[in-house]
Amino acid sequence: MELAAGKAEDIFRSLNRELWVVTAADSEHRGGLLATWVSQASLDPARPVILAGLAPNHYTTELVRNSGQLVVHLLNSDQSDVAWNFCRDSGRERDKLASCELETTFPDIPVLASCHSFLLGRVFACVETGERTYFWADIEQAEKYSSSAPLCEQQFLQWCDEDKKNVLKSDKLTDVQLQRDLESNFRQSIPDWLRFG
Ligand SMILES: Cc1cc2nc3c(=O)[nH]c(=O)nc-3n(C[C@H](O)[C@H](O)[C@H](O)COP(=O)(O)O)c2cc1C
Repeated sequence: MELAAGKAEDIFRSLNRELWVVTAADSEHRGGLLATWVSQASLDPARPVILAGLAPNHYTTELVRNSGQLVVHLLNSDQSDVAWNFCRDSGRERDKLASCELETTFPDIPVLASCHSFLLGRVFACVETGERTYFWADIEQAEKYSSSAPLCEQQFLQWCDEDKKNVLKSDKLTDVQLQRDLESNFRQSIPDWLRFG
């Protein structure tokens, strides 16, 4: 089991997923985080849906839950500094959007003016699984500004110096330790409609 876990981690590390900046706001607060767990969740071009897996302890997750809305942005390949801004600290301590220029046409939710593209979604389903909160959202607005490849994980990690990598490692460890208990609790109380076997 331990050997498989080590190999799985090695396999996951070789992936090169797109990096998304997820933003949300409720009536008083706004925030955002960096995420790889964002996916197209419907093949129907007439009814585009996204699925985002956010950690329950993250501030942005709270804002999405409160508002029922989120924006997922892809970044341009030279926007590693923007990715860095959103993947560290908590929005409970710092307004991560203070340094960003925002679109003025969306008063209810922060939309980055400078990005590769964005999708604005309205949540219609949410499942809590302890370690992740999954949000399914209908896409109501979308814009693409670039036809180049968006920023991906490996390129961002190459941009990070050792100090930044150490911050990311330590933040991840803190998250994993916190989420381990949440995940165990979830496994012990999976509702019938979700339980398999
Ligand atoms: C490469 C990378 C991918 C990440 N992917 C996710 C993700 O898919 N979901 C998530 O909730 N957090 C993810 N994170 C962690 C958050 O971006 C980070 O903890 C953030 O500071 C949380 O901010 P908040 O508490 O202000 O919402 C990722 C971090 C990195 C470096």
